[in-house]
Amino acid sequence: MKKFYIKTFGCQMNVNDSQKMAGILKHLGYEPTTNWEEADVILVNTCSVREKPDQKVLSALGEFKKVKKKNPNAVIGVCGCLAQRAGYELLQKAPYLDMVFGTTNIHHLPQLLDEALKGNKAVEILEEIDERETELDKYPTVRENKYTAYLTVIRGCDKKCTYCIVPYTRGKERSRRLGDILREVKELVDDGVKEIHLLGQNVTAYGKDLGDVKFWELLYAVANVEGVERIRFTTGHPRDLDEDIIKAMADIPQVCEYLHLPIQAGSDRILKAMDRGYTQKEYLEKIELLKKYIPNIALSTDIIVGFPGETYEDYLETIKVLKEVEYDQVFSFKYSPRPGTPAAEMEQTEDPKEISKRLNDLIQLQKEISFKKNLAYENKEVEVLVEEEKDGKLVGRTRTNKLVYFEGRNTLLGKLVLTRITKANRYSLEGVLIK
Ligand code: SAH
Ligand code: SF4
Ligand code: F3S
Repeated sequence: MKKFYIKTFGCQMNVNDSQKMAGILKHLGYEPTTNWEEADVILVNTCSVREKPDQKVLSALGEFKKVKKKNPNAVIGVCGCLAQRAGYELLQKAPYLDMVFGTTNIHHLPQLLDEALKGNKAVEILEEIDERETELDKYPTVRENKYTAYLTVIRGCDKKCTYCIVPYTRGKERSRRLGDILREVKELVDDGVKEIHLLGQNVTAYGKDLGDVKFWELLYAVANVEGVERIRFTTGHPRDLDEDIIKAMADIPQVCEYLHLPIQAGSDRILKAMDRGYTQKEYLEKIELLKKYIPNIALSTDIIVGFPGETYEDYLETIKVLKEVEYDQVFSFKYSPRPGTPAAEMEQTEDPKEISKRLNDLIQLQKEISFKKNLAYENKEVEVLVEEEKDGKLVGRTRTNKLVYFEGRNTLLGKLVLTRITKANRYSLEGVLIK
């Protein structure tokens, strides 16, 4: 049987797209392999959000090219955000590529593969969004985890943060129809899934383009599907996160007490230059509202350090927010200019060394805060969804998205259990089974 291998870079949207592509390839009679050297089809699903992922893609391609020595008929394809942004450039740099396709052409994978197998270059990168992209939704996802599943509910992004490439690589916002989403939720539950993770670059904007449904209504509708035990969603945008959504989060038993709410920077001047659409005060008011309705909520955020024009004083505003909010987790990045974005034209005033130092200091500070947050779990009883067995232990997540390791029988896989936390580590918790 012919085999396929998919390498995925980037965010959960890309992970979900790769799961769908795996579904398509299985449907076409291919089997997955974990060893790219024996693959007949290699797909590289790319990210372009910063310069580093761009480079990673190029070095991965250099490696995968070797597959053709042993198997000259092997097909190598590139898709995702870098392909959408610079597919033709990629073809020049890597002329051995057989397929290159954009983010809205994934449903054409069967035809593209057909073309490539005939020995032709299969290239499809559209400027406009392909109206038929939703055909992708009908394929089942091939997931690594049996009990948790991603589900894309909105594609694209209408926010135009000045540093960000995503609106260019993913296009304008398109919400999926509620009925289609609920059908997929039901299929996933029938397949054994307990936790549904709703996805979008900007999920809280769900429904704006449809006009007749809002994100909080989607949450209720998903919760009403029989068998859904937990609901998570990423990424919420602070601008669209309103009291209706927060109330629904608090009210729906299955919605987990965890939210990733990117602030990016603490300084109002920088937030304005980023065109984020909120001030530090407005952001902190939303955090306060979240904590009021959901007192035990765990929070995480994204931070960009070294945006053009960021002074040390601006940076200190970010530090101030981290100290005040006490996030459970922070994903921090050095600013990276992206071709074609407005920020790429802005002047960088700071020394790269100084920016690296700021980032390192921020990471150190957050390490302490995250550890302190974990320590607070010691001796507490928490609900865990048992996701997998690893090194002879069971592993699952709390509703607040913390990993818990504990002893137990594998008949508990996929079950919600109660554990008592015995030890907090920096990045995980250890516990014992209570029930
Ligand atoms: N839609 C999500 C984020 C998508 S990109 C949101 O709006 O929050 C994921 C993260 O990458 C962003 O939150 C941001 O922190 C970071 N990022 C995006 N563009 C970047 C750039 N040009 N340089 C550095 N980090 C960037
Ligand atoms: Fe990028 Fe901003 Fe859209 Fe997030 S909201 S994807 S950071 S443009
Ligand atoms: Fe990267 Fe595209 Fe996601 S640029 S972060 S893979 S939307």
